Amino acid sequence: MLERLKEIRLEAAERLEACKDEAELEALNVSVLGRSGALTEVLRAMGAMHKTKRAEVGQAANALKRELEEKIAAKRKALSLRLAELKLLKETLDITEPGRLLCKRGRLHPMTLAYREIRDALVGMGFIPFDGPEVELDEYCFTLLNIPPGHPARDVQDTFYINESVVLRPHTSPCQIRSLKQLEPPFRVVIPGRCFRVDEPDASHSPVFMQMEGLVVDRHITLSDLKGTLETFAHAVFGEDVKTRFRPSYFPFTEPSAEMDISCTICKGKGCRVCKGSGWLEILGSGVTNPHVIENCGLDPHEWSAFAFGLGVDRVASLKYGIPDIRLQYENDARFLSQF
Ligand code: DAH
Repeated sequence: MLERLKEIRLEAAERLEACKDEAELEALNVSVLGRSGALTEVLRAMGAMHKTKRAEVGQAANALKRELEEKIAAKRKALSLRLAELKLLKETLDITEPGRLLCKRGRLHPMTLAYREIRDALVGMGFIPFDGPEVELDEYCFTLLNIPPGHPARDVQDTFYINESVVLRPHTSPCQIRSLKQLEPPFRVVIPGRCFRVDEPDASHSPVFMQMEGLVVDRHITLSDLKGTLETFAHAVFGEDVKTRFRPSYFPFTEPSAEMDISCTICKGKGCRVCKGSGWLEILGSGVTNPHVIENCGLDPHEWSAFAFGLGVDRVASLKYGIPDIRLQYENDARFLSQF
């Protein structure tokens, strides 16, 4: 029997050494220590042995049992550590590998790009952004801007009326009234926003469009302040090479009024289809604020004076980016928008 125990010990040691995984180890465990395992059989056979022999074999068998249990447990631990190590090796991350792009990045709308350039140029000259509602009192859109009842600009064929006294603003100029009533002069504001007019959509008209208003209120404002500011502004937005010119015009809320042209950004003033051969492009309306407007907002026109200007942001975007049809800017076709 002691011989048998030696055999078992030797065989178990060899198999333990060769064990590659948990399953092999379990098979070894069962075949030696299991119910009908080799060592269990020796222990069972001891009952039939002589007393003195039984004690000797019993001691040896129990010692071997303990030894093998310990060795198997140690091997089990080693195997599981090795497994975890292999798993970690397989899962190593290359943190220097560039990430995969999950989807196309969004881009800014050309109108937003144009607006930000205009705004930044003006903010650089001390203007602060101001805001007003799209649904506006007709009193602010017209009456207080010196556009009396019966004026053609109020025509229901041009303006969307919500009711008798409320409209969708047809320009951002009512924000001049709001800022004059709200802010303490002197101040300079830049006011962007959507405007609405009853217009049949075509390449240069859209019933919704985006304007931007500028207003400077101070003492002793003159036409020269207006010209100097707008020339600086035009160069900041359209480049130093661009030429400017002022043409007399008429707006009820300014006196005198002027429109500013810039030399055509496409043909550089030679004459082309975009500037209709004139070499010039009209970009904004402007003027020295009519004293009636200042008075209408509760300020003394003898103390305070102002100049104002308004331009189409979508038009500036068209000129800057060569967009041939204004409707493209309101359709949100991703194929068009992804180009900017
Ligand atoms: N509100 C005018 C329009 O929609 C544009 C304009 C002209 C704004 C002259 C002004 C200005 O502030 O002074 O056509």
